[in-house]
Amino acid sequence: MRVKIAAIVEETPLVKSFDLVSADPAVPLPAHTCGAHIAVPVVLPDGSRDTRSYSIVNPPAYRGFYRLAVHREREGKGGSAYMHEQLRVGDEFEIDAPKNHFELVSNAAEYILIAGGIGITPILCMASQLVVEARPFTLHYAARQPELMAFRNDVLGRCGEHARLWFDGGDPAKGMDLNEILREWRPGLHVYVCGPARLIDAVLAISGSCGWPETAVHFELFSNPTATQEDDQPVEIVLQHSGLVVKVPPGKSILDAVLDAGVDADFDCKVGECGSCLTTVLEGTPIHRDYYLNGRERAENKSMCTCVSWAKTSRLVLDL
Ligand code: FES
Repeated sequence: MRVKIAAIVEETPLVKSFDLVSADPAVPLPAHTCGAHIAVPVVLPDGSRDTRSYSIVNPPAYRGFYRLAVHREREGKGGSAYMHEQLRVGDEFEIDAPKNHFELVSNAAEYILIAGGIGITPILCMASQLVVEARPFTLHYAARQPELMAFRNDVLGRCGEHARLWFDGGDPAKGMDLNEILREWRPGLHVYVCGPARLIDAVLAISGSCGWPETAVHFELFSNPTATQEDDQPVEIVLQHSGLVVKVPPGKSILDAVLDAGVDADFDCKVGECGSCLTTVLEGTPIHRDYYLNGRERAENKSMCTCVSWAKTSRLVLDL
């Protein structure tokens, strides 16, 4: 569907929000659920086209627009720079309906919401909806310093005493006390966390050691720093169905190389979390760098998330 930018607001020096409305007032935007995201088309510095996924900030109760927020990445590939520098109010583009891999369970007795940096976007959506529904929750939101905390006033205004803000000034030792926050699990309690990989990793580790069941721990990543590693070697990908051979250099994802070769492969998050790109491995051994497969599935090496995972062997044959 076609959408139009109705407003752009500088939330912090590094974060802009974008309100998207339907370009045709006769065609309403599809409803969304908490945790949903949409993929926005971007043009990269080399002129190539790609998409970037952004969570919807406004709760489902606030209809008629999608508010997105984009943190400008200094070391990114240019998607966030495009959003910040090239887009203007009134610009139009096509999007698909929102997708959601980070659904808020409706039957929880209580929620803990944790956000790091721009990870506040789906978390604020959830908190706002829980306020509308008068459901019990606590929100912990961390940033380096107050002036870099996007939606700080919205968080405080909507969540009031449910919210606790944390400022570490760049020193992780002064960050959120996750050991205290996750100290005790009780039936009906669910935690949702969104932010950088180190925050997700810490929540997974601490909740695991404190006896939280996996089904009560929900997370969404914005980037996956393990996807590319210094000692990665080039890998040759053989696509079983077409016989196509794709050589993938380190630094490029297997998924992107396959897509560039004209193959119609499924994907969504591109950070190794949703499982949309999961592909059967017919020959060769992958190195798993995703957050989707469980320990047993990783050990079996029968499938891999091609958006982030790499190869131990110089050749992989994939069921594509
Ligand atoms: S696209 Fe989501 S795990 Fe690969």
